[in-house]
Amino acid sequence: MSRRCVVLVGMMGAGKTEVGEQLAADLGYDFVDVDQLIVEKAGKSIPKIFKESGQDGFRVLETETIRELDGSLSRVIAPGGGALETPENAQILRTLGHVIYLKASARELYQRIKNDRNRPLLEVENPKGEVATLLTGREPGYRDAADFVIDTEELSVDEVVSKLIDELAKRTIETQY
Ligand code: S3P
Repeated sequence: MSRRCVVLVGMMGAGKTEVGEQLAADLGYDFVDVDQLIVEKAGKSIPKIFKESGQDGFRVLETETIRELDGSLSRVIAPGGGALETPENAQILRTLGHVIYLKASARELYQRIKNDRNRPLLEVENPKGEVATLLTGREPGYRDAADFVIDTEELSVDEVVSKLIDELAKRTIETQY
């Protein structure tokens, strides 16, 4: 299978959607938000899926959705922050394209997402601690899957996109430039 897509991985708050949308526009690619596909497939919001089917039910839908991704088209794909915890997902996403880990510290991630009520995993007593725990557990998986890492800690979306385009150009992805 060709590796034409760009796959952005990282935690909730890493900027996968915002960066992905802008990168896709700049490259002339389509943008695919895996969570959005899951919502369309289930006909309900992410919080409702978690409420009715639990995290396990959500993960089943997530893997079904990732299996259906078409890697033959030029796309920027953003899976949810927990997608790589399922080894099959990580394997499929690697076959689709260049995998980039958008990295940020737990403190920065928490600042970016603390007012967002669309993330059921953070509806806990200590969401800040939960971000740190999830990041520690997931970081090795992000790094393993990634072709390269972009540290987004102090960068604007524009700056992250520009770095990504430079790095991808070195790796001979076709761009308009
Ligand atoms: C999750 C991240 C969310 C979404 C779901 C679970 C996670 O996606 O898939 O709430 O396990 O980290 P984002 O990373 O786009 O917020």
